[in-house]
Amino acid sequence: MSRRILIAGNWKMNSAPEGACTESSVYHSTEHVDVAVFPTFLDLEECIAAGILTGGQFGHPEAHGAHTGDISMAMLKDNGCSMVLCGHSERRDHHKETNAHVAQQAKAALEVGLHPIVCIGETEAEREHNEQEDVIRRQMADLPLNADITIAYEPVWAIGTGNTATPEQAQEIHALIRSLLPEERTESTRILYGGSMKPSNAQELLLQPDIDGGLIGGASLEPEAFGEIIAIAEQLSQDN
Ligand code: 13P
Repeated sequence: MSRRILIAGNWKMNSAPEGACTESSVYHSTEHVDVAVFPTFLDLEECIAAGILTGGQFGHPEAHGAHTGDISMAMLKDNGCSMVLCGHSERRDHHKETNAHVAQQAKAALEVGLHPIVCIGETEAEREHNEQEDVIRRQMADLPLNADITIAYEPVWAIGTGNTATPEQAQEIHALIRSLLPEERTESTRILYGGSMKPSNAQELLLQPDIDGGLIGGASLEPEAFGEIIAIAEQLSQDN
């Protein structure tokens, strides 16, 4: 496979795990696997200083202004971030981020030289009504798919629930996502899976042809578990 696996840890509103922001922690890229973390804004600097690929969990599309509690893409970039999450389902839900706003975020990130990881995925109710494909199409419609971005498929019903999508369910949506990319980006765009990924299911998910890595919440806060997932990804990459 030509795409390098990316294993990303989304720490959400949790402090950095003890010892994580150091040069010897497991949160560093390996020979064949890119590893990144998304800490709270307070821990960004320490992760960056430790040489870890680091991103913001959110960035406002405007450069500055009256947006209490927010931080801009430009500020993230100026402070050493290389990536940013756009449209995580918790932001879409709790902060009412729309598909249009998420697309603006991704475009603003690209403009300042940040790599956007755009999160998409259906809710439990949408899957029950078999609407997942329509949801994915709508969520991708305005995205700058011609640019170098990463997509993370995170079915909302799998996040933090322990209910991982089966490899078949995930692969089906990942293949759909890839089919919606412009031809020149089909092979190069990474598509991550997120939703209760852990050492016990990482291998079967990462073996799917259109799954290029993981966006990991809970297990990324446990250095040992996160390290195991990285080791699985490294082994799979070496076997390829
Ligand atoms: P969990 O791995 O805890 O299910 O979280 C996934 C996620 O939301 C990553 O962005």
